[in-house]
Amino acid sequence: MKNQTFFTERRKELLAQMCDNSAAVIFAASEQTRSLDTEYSFRQNSYFYYLTGFNEPESVLLLVKTSDANTVVLFNRDKDRVQEIWHGRRLGQTQALKCFELDQALSISELTTKLPELINGVDTLYSCHGETTHGEDALKSVMSTLRQGMKQNLSAPSVQIDLRLILDEMRLIKTSEEVEIMRRASVISANAHTRAMLFSKPGVFEYQLEAEIMHEFASNGARFAAYNTIVGGGDNACILHYTENESVLKDGDLVLIDAGCEYQGYAADITRTFPVNGKFSPEQKAIYQLVLKAQLAAIAMIKPSATIKAANDTVIEIFTEGLLDLGVISGDFEQAMTDMVYKDFYMHGLGHWIGIDVHDVGDYRTSDRSRFLEPGMTLTIEPGLYISEDADVDPKWRGIGVRIEDDLLVTVEGNEVLTKDVIKTVEQIEALMAGE
Ligand code: GLY
Ligand code: MN
Ligand code: MN
Repeated sequence: MKNQTFFTERRKELLAQMCDNSAAVIFAASEQTRSLDTEYSFRQNSYFYYLTGFNEPESVLLLVKTSDANTVVLFNRDKDRVQEIWHGRRLGQTQALKCFELDQALSISELTTKLPELINGVDTLYSCHGETTHGEDALKSVMSTLRQGMKQNLSAPSVQIDLRLILDEMRLIKTSEEVEIMRRASVISANAHTRAMLFSKPGVFEYQLEAEIMHEFASNGARFAAYNTIVGGGDNACILHYTENESVLKDGDLVLIDAGCEYQGYAADITRTFPVNGKFSPEQKAIYQLVLKAQLAAIAMIKPSATIKAANDTVIEIFTEGLLDLGVISGDFEQAMTDMVYKDFYMHGLGHWIGIDVHDVGDYRTSDRSRFLEPGMTLTIEPGLYISEDADVDPKWRGIGVRIEDDLLVTVEGNEVLTKDVIKTVEQIEALMAGE
């Protein structure tokens, strides 16, 4: 059982931010069928996990705040000898009371009768609107019971508020415990990338590099990737969400790997691009160094009061100038900027929040991500240039796709690159792959 202090603190913080005479209901994820009678590996709902650290489905957390007291209730599955022999342990209510700081632990089978009783009379109900269908159905039934229950002295909350308004802001600023876990997720993921670099050679299949990555994750306590691993050789690197990972890696091509593990509920998200045979061609090296220059410039800008937008504006300028200097595009800098020529080669954003979800929650404030950064925020910085096989450029540049992605913590002084353990200069990559 995980140390509960973190989760208890999060619940206290949430209760402090809830308005008087209110209740918050948070539903666990449900199991998902993969085929007929087998399920996908269970992944807890991120909000529920953030507040409980409890990894069973069919659970509901209820927080009630009245002028008299705060009450924390967990509904969870009953102990069941047969089910546990076949499908695994269940905590049950007695253990739940012992392990978590709760006021009550109730059977999930009592949800529809007890939940209306427990929230009866509150003015405001918080929940993550639309988060799960089973949660929506349960809340509909609860509200209906309360609305029809005037005769039994039941009354429904008159205000319903999306709990994300509070929780997303809490999740955006990581505590030191969360940062420690994310550092570990980053180290495991960094080592996985190093392992893939060492294993790469012409003739190896993309899925074999994926296997090396997954081996490093799983053997270090991170059984799952935080998202589907991308291993794209040659032109496949230009498909941003390429996950087939089925092609053979060719001599003379680059390979792009975007992979990060999920460790104790938290994601890492790293991309490295390197030559399949360990040696960059002149064109690959030129594009790679341009992306690295832009990434390092962006990282240097990440600090409190800076914005992702400002860093991205710098990346766009560096890309435009660099592509002109190399002769990949032609014309005048100002005109190329006005025409946004970079968009043909850099078509995604610079980065995103990262945490329990790889694309983590938190308001960016504007579509170009101009929210001021604050200490405790964690984000990715991942510029890329993708010159596909059919790009309208000199053929020598075609089939080169490069992205370099790291995860950063905003600190009081500036930033910490959490994923720094995996190398990224041309010289370092060539030396490692040459066995030096
Ligand atoms: N791996 C997904 C992303 O980089 O955003
Ligand atoms: Mn990524
Ligand atoms: Mn990313």
